[in-house]
Amino acid sequence: MLRKNASGETQILSSIVRGQDSLHAAYGGVVPEIAARAHAEILDLCVEEALDVAQTPLQDIDAIAVTAGPGLIGGVVSGVMCAKGLALATGKPLYGINHLAGHALTPRLTDNVPFPYLMLLVSGGHCQFLLVKGPDDFKRIGGTIDDAPGEAFDKIARLLALPQPGGPSVEQAAQRGYTKRFSLPRPLLDRTGCDMSFSGLKTAVLRARDGLVRDQGGLYPQDQADLSAGFQAAVVDVLAEKTSRAMHQYHQLSPSTATLCVAGGVAANMAIRARLETVARDNGAGFVAPPLALCTDNAAMIGFAALERMADHPPDDLTLAARPRWPL
Ligand code: KG4
Ligand code: ZN
Repeated sequence: MLRKNASGETQILSSIVRGQDSLHAAYGGVVPEIAARAHAEILDLCVEEALDVAQTPLQDIDAIAVTAGPGLIGGVVSGVMCAKGLALATGKPLYGINHLAGHALTPRLTDNVPFPYLMLLVSGGHCQFLLVKGPDDFKRIGGTIDDAPGEAFDKIARLLALPQPGGPSVEQAAQRGYTKRFSLPRPLLDRTGCDMSFSGLKTAVLRARDGLVRDQGGLYPQDQADLSAGFQAAVVDVLAEKTSRAMHQYHQLSPSTATLCVAGGVAANMAIRARLETVARDNGAGFVAPPLALCTDNAAMIGFAALERMADHPPDDLTLAARPRWPL
């Protein structure tokens, strides 16, 4: 739950986040039916908790925001149905929000970054450079042509028998690792522009792991650490180089202002944040990375995106649809 105070600043009164990793752990990946059911079971409890923490009765809220896509459709439908029920019961306006817009606008919630800015949106399902010109004005200037880095972090964790979500566990293992033990590729650096690719890197880690298992009969903790460190260093190198190129493109499109922002779950990675900060500085730009809890999926960013849209957009009505695909 969010509130704008008298001076126009947005305050987060509550942001309840519940994960489902333990429900999917036994299956080696997210099971769509389990995800949908778990959403349906927990949403009303999350709403109650959000109201409790914010000490606000339901009838006192001004509007309801909900993620309407893109994403695994069962969970998105559960959220949209829950929000429609609340809108119908309270008579309050309803705003269906694009999940990616939520991530991309977060730097304005935390740091009031003025438009336009360059956003590297990097998460479990997405990886793209966006020139963010307004709450509903995003120009994509490049992105992954295959996997998203978060997906690759999760896959690498599975290959190395590290816990899910893979990002934090690979990052932790990497701290004990030697980045140069394995020679891993930096895909697409030889190609101009700021498109990226991560699937070849994933395959290279798989091959290196299989080689170790074959030669040693298994993986030792130092192998996990070295493969994690090598993989993370390759992701950092690719993101840094492509961000540098995106910044040049951004300067051409928007020479007067320069801020590089990063958001999405993978933006919680400290090695990535540190390197991107250097890239921004080298290009004479400011750098904004939201606090970790606002990088990974959260309720506050969706409420904030609705606040940003309200001035220029009418609310949605009860025909609001959940969209599995919804490019910005
Ligand atoms: O934005 P997000 O919470 O959900 C999506 O919209 O996808 O991102 C989740 C992704 C997962 O793949 C997770 O492994 C990754 O973000 N992630 C990280 C870190 N924390 C979360 N990746 C690298 N380092 C981290 N510290
Ligand atoms: Zn996300």
